[in-house]
Amino acid sequence: MEAPDEATRSRRWTHAAGPRYWWHRLPGMDFVPPVYSDLTEAEWKIVRAWYEETDRSGVIGECAVPLVSLLHGLVMGNRIARIVQLGTCAGYSSLLLGFMLRRMNAPNGLFTLDLDPELCALTRRWLERAGLTNFVTVAEGNSLDPNSLAAAQAHFRGEPEMILLDSSHEYGATVRELDLWYPALQMGGLLLLHDVSRFAEEFDVTAQGGVRRAFDEWREKNPQAEAICLNGESRTMDLPRPPYKDACGLGIIYKAEVQVPE
Ligand SMILES: C[S@@+](CC[C@H](N)C(=O)[O-])C[C@H]1O[C@@H](n2cnc3c(N)ncnc32)[C@H](O)[C@@H]1O
Repeated sequence: MEAPDEATRSRRWTHAAGPRYWWHRLPGMDFVPPVYSDLTEAEWKIVRAWYEETDRSGVIGECAVPLVSLLHGLVMGNRIARIVQLGTCAGYSSLLLGFMLRRMNAPNGLFTLDLDPELCALTRRWLERAGLTNFVTVAEGNSLDPNSLAAAQAHFRGEPEMILLDSSHEYGATVRELDLWYPALQMGGLLLLHDVSRFAEEFDVTAQGGVRRAFDEWREKNPQAEAICLNGESRTMDLPRPPYKDACGLGIIYKAEVQVPE
């Protein structure tokens, strides 16, 4: 007899083929992480159906369990309720963040941007199916465009508390995103950059050094900001993995208050 879906959930992927299931295949990951176990049965059914559809269509580009788990802790542990995401893709992180915001009763808490109209439409369709349209707004636009920033600011009528940068992975574009979006972040806010590792440099189609080079240069120029790079030296998806398991790495910038000497 098959175990109830509630217990099985993401454990069905422990032996799943396909690059997107890499986390589930790692040794010892035969358990349901809180980002999934925390969902209601109806929410989990949406996630499962979303995976089935995107497996069929091949629209795959989402972050994985390590990053979304970190977001889960940050967002739900602190009721972070003004979040910008640059790069929506097919809606994975939008759905999961939407479930968190609904749990916290934090409407309009995520403003997620993508320049691809079809991906925006796809994500909106899944958010509607999940009943999350009061919590997540999908905006079509370019993250390099100051009008996109203005739209996010108008949406929140204030400053974002957290910005998740997961868009083109190009060096030049990431420099411009950091220069445009960091100043708009609330003091004490967080800017997270996915794909900051050596491994992820190859995602830069311009071959200019990707998010990693942009992040390194930005840190040099902005010593007042506190920043760390998780798993930044990772060069392959091979085992063994460091404690932070995502080979793509994560940059975290904390907009610390500047201490003015007396
Ligand atoms: C890696 S995917 C985002 C995945 C998403 N954060 C998730 O985990 O579900 C990157 C997305 O960024 C979008 N993108 C790339 N350059 C962009 C830009 N300049 N402005 C807005 N979106 C962009 C792409 O269309 C793509 O859908």
